[in-house]
Amino acid sequence: MSQIQDSLKPIVALCKRRGFVYPGSEIYGGFANTYSFGPYGVELKRNIKDLWWKMFVHERRDMVGLDGPILLHPKAWKASGHVDGFSDALIDCKACKSRFRCDHLIEETLHQNADDLTLVQMTDLVHQNKVKCPKCGASDFTEARHFNLMFQTHMSKTGADGDVAYLRPETAQAIFLDYKNIVDTVRVKLPFGVAQIGKAFRNEITPGNFVFRVIEFEQMEIEYFTREAAWEKTFDSWLQEMHRWCKRIGLKSARVHEKEHPKEQLSHYSKRTVDLVYDFPFGTSELYGLAYRTDFDLSRHAECSGQTIDYTDPETREKFIPHVIEPTFGVERTLLALLCDAYEEEKLENGEMRTVLHFAPCIAPVKVAVFPLMKKEPLAEKAQAVFATLQALWHCEYDESGAIGKRYRRQDELGTPFCITIDFDTLENDTVTLRDRDSMKQERVAIRDLVSHLAPKLH
Ligand code: GAP
Repeated sequence: MSQIQDSLKPIVALCKRRGFVYPGSEIYGGFANTYSFGPYGVELKRNIKDLWWKMFVHERRDMVGLDGPILLHPKAWKASGHVDGFSDALIDCKACKSRFRCDHLIEETLHQNADDLTLVQMTDLVHQNKVKCPKCGASDFTEARHFNLMFQTHMSKTGADGDVAYLRPETAQAIFLDYKNIVDTVRVKLPFGVAQIGKAFRNEITPGNFVFRVIEFEQMEIEYFTREAAWEKTFDSWLQEMHRWCKRIGLKSARVHEKEHPKEQLSHYSKRTVDLVYDFPFGTSELYGLAYRTDFDLSRHAECSGQTIDYTDPETREKFIPHVIEPTFGVERTLLALLCDAYEEEKLENGEMRTVLHFAPCIAPVKVAVFPLMKKEPLAEKAQAVFATLQALWHCEYDESGAIGKRYRRQDELGTPFCITIDFDTLENDTVTLRDRDSMKQERVAIRDLVSHLAPKLH
């Protein structure tokens, strides 16, 4: 399988051409599976994160936020089970040195599910069936072995625990470590949740499909604390909230599905997991996850730190460790799903093709583009005044070069919902041409009405 499948290539090309996503360290020949988010990619990511925070923190009364460190005490990762269990089985081709996730190799070549197999069973299957390397065709594999996905780094002084520290593979643990601080310092009452957005790192064996699976990415995670008896109800309501989020960012509902994890495939901390999967061009794959983490993490941290991490019921004074429902969202996967969902190569009535991103206005990197018909005065002065008014409210762009048609096409590829042209009629009657990205219809709107006209469409 190529790193970037053909079905994604037009989107990858548009991302490079229009400054959404660049390959990482490109001037040094690239650094595999790392990416930079260019001027429009960073706007898109910010809109995703800001809207998520608004919807799940500011618009609710039962949520607070946190920004924890990437580097946690190494004992935290032992307690959470990541040091011993956060690993995949890998296998190497001795001939070409390519590395594969062994379960994926078995599934792809022998069409057999390998989830429950031991390392020895996987090795035997690959060797006995003389599985061919998908890269070079040789049948010469090493034995399968566990590979921990956590990146390690070294600290100068961490005393008796040695100098290894881990880059967090999930943001969740920082929330569990600060659970006690939050309960002690902020007036939260069960049920309540803590939200966090931040970087996570995973030394994935087979990253790929553009930004779908990368080694450095951002997560938007919620740990929602509740009573054990309420877990099923809470789980169901968060599942609905996750669907509501997908709708709010404009993903087509028909492309978002639920996938229940079979019991034998659950993570070590989970008693139930449902993924929201999305129909990506390369196949239906995980977008988000919802897990019932029980009291596993808080209990483990209480046990390993020797601290009391109880919740005390304010009325009954009953003490207990809350249970946790965890909705988790990847920022890059959201960005990729949005790009795939919005991308269209449209054949126009005159036979020309236009490429357009039909982003929902709330996540579009640029909301309005303002064009003077010509660079000359007094058109430019008038256009700059309109731009200044709109820029105070929304992220806008000013473009004065090239034919108007070309300027429209460029904004279509950026997914800008509206373009405004200041022409000679503007000088006569103070109206502008407002052009809608999706319908390409144009209408005349008075400059004084522009804000009230656009506001309901952009929010
Ligand atoms: N705290 C739970 C947790 O980390 P996960 O399913 O391993 O669960 C959560 O990851 C989300 O993070 C995924 O649903 C996905 O959106 C995103 N994600 C995970 N690994 C990723 C990777 N290598 N590259 C990009 N996004 C990733």
